Amino acid sequence: MTSAVTTAPGGAAPALAALAYHDGQFVPLEQARVPVTTQALQYGTGVFEGIRAYTQADGTLAVFRGHDHYARLLRSARTLRIDVGLDAERLCAVTAELLRRIGSTDDMYIRPLAYKRALLPGTPPGVQLTGVSDALSVNAFRMGSYTDRGGIQVAISSWRRPESGMLPVRAKVTGGYVNNALAVDEARAAGYADAVLLNSRGLVAEASTSNVFAVVRGRLITPPATADLLEGITRETVVTLAADLLDTATGFEDLARDDLCNADEVFLTGTGSEIVPVTGIGGRAVGDGTPGPLTTALMTAYHEVVRGKHERYHHWLQAVGQDSA
Ligand SMILES: Cc1ncc(COP(=O)(O)O)c(C=O)c1O
Repeated sequence: MTSAVTTAPGGAAPALAALAYHDGQFVPLEQARVPVTTQALQYGTGVFEGIRAYTQADGTLAVFRGHDHYARLLRSARTLRIDVGLDAERLCAVTAELLRRIGSTDDMYIRPLAYKRALLPGTPPGVQLTGVSDALSVNAFRMGSYTDRGGIQVAISSWRRPESGMLPVRAKVTGGYVNNALAVDEARAAGYADAVLLNSRGLVAEASTSNVFAVVRGRLITPPATADLLEGITRETVVTLAADLLDTATGFEDLARDDLCNADEVFLTGTGSEIVPVTGIGGRAVGDGTPGPLTTALMTAYHEVVRGKHERYHHWLQAVGQDSA
């Protein structure tokens, strides 16, 4: 089949797929547009997901934990009173159909976005969640692994992660990502790859678009959901793989800034970044400044699992060749 994926100039940026699912139809990507009056554009009232699909050993494509991502999208949407109009099963089917129509069997990144669109007749202008129509769009683009497996240097951000009484931090709300963008911007301007954000209590929350794990005195620890973080699906995958395959239990415990700086190993987890070792924090080496043994073992396990090499986790993979939207 001819691939509908456009090629990125120079191969540097991810190539945009030429199709999107937009307002209930599969359309050329350039037709998936929104007017400037879109409420989500003005007020950040959208929710989104980032999902990966991986090429399997037989050359086919499979979506990793798509159902879990869509269950989270629906929870996020509920928080903002967005009616997505499809359940998680149907959203998985739409995604598979989009990927089939795009026709690439390379690794793909899928970006669903559900958002507040237009004021309904009779609704006065203003910031609000009722009296506004809802919309859904899903696009996908070719994106391989971009993780620096040798490790990255991160900064502790001066931007604090908002607490759940300020923003629904467990939901992936577009407007909330201003905080993440400012933290990344600050970190990159200072020469770091990413930022770790502390919460309003001064404890580790998460990185800009990933969760944080640390090996502290031989124990694997990640902050609990109450540390004002997004409960990552990769975080949950890592906890499962650590227990099942490496006989390592994870403690859900608060981490102070100095716990992180004195840890033997630190790594980040996220759908996009996968598992990335942190080898330096604020200019200080983590451990001996190279990816640690547990981090390395988890990276290996994770990459095997997403490529379907562990039958035990095949239920996390949805073959794109199946079902029809
Ligand atoms: C703020 C934030 N935290 C954590 C994560 C990791 O979540 P997941 O593993 O579900 O991709 C993400 C990515 O979606 C994120 O944006």
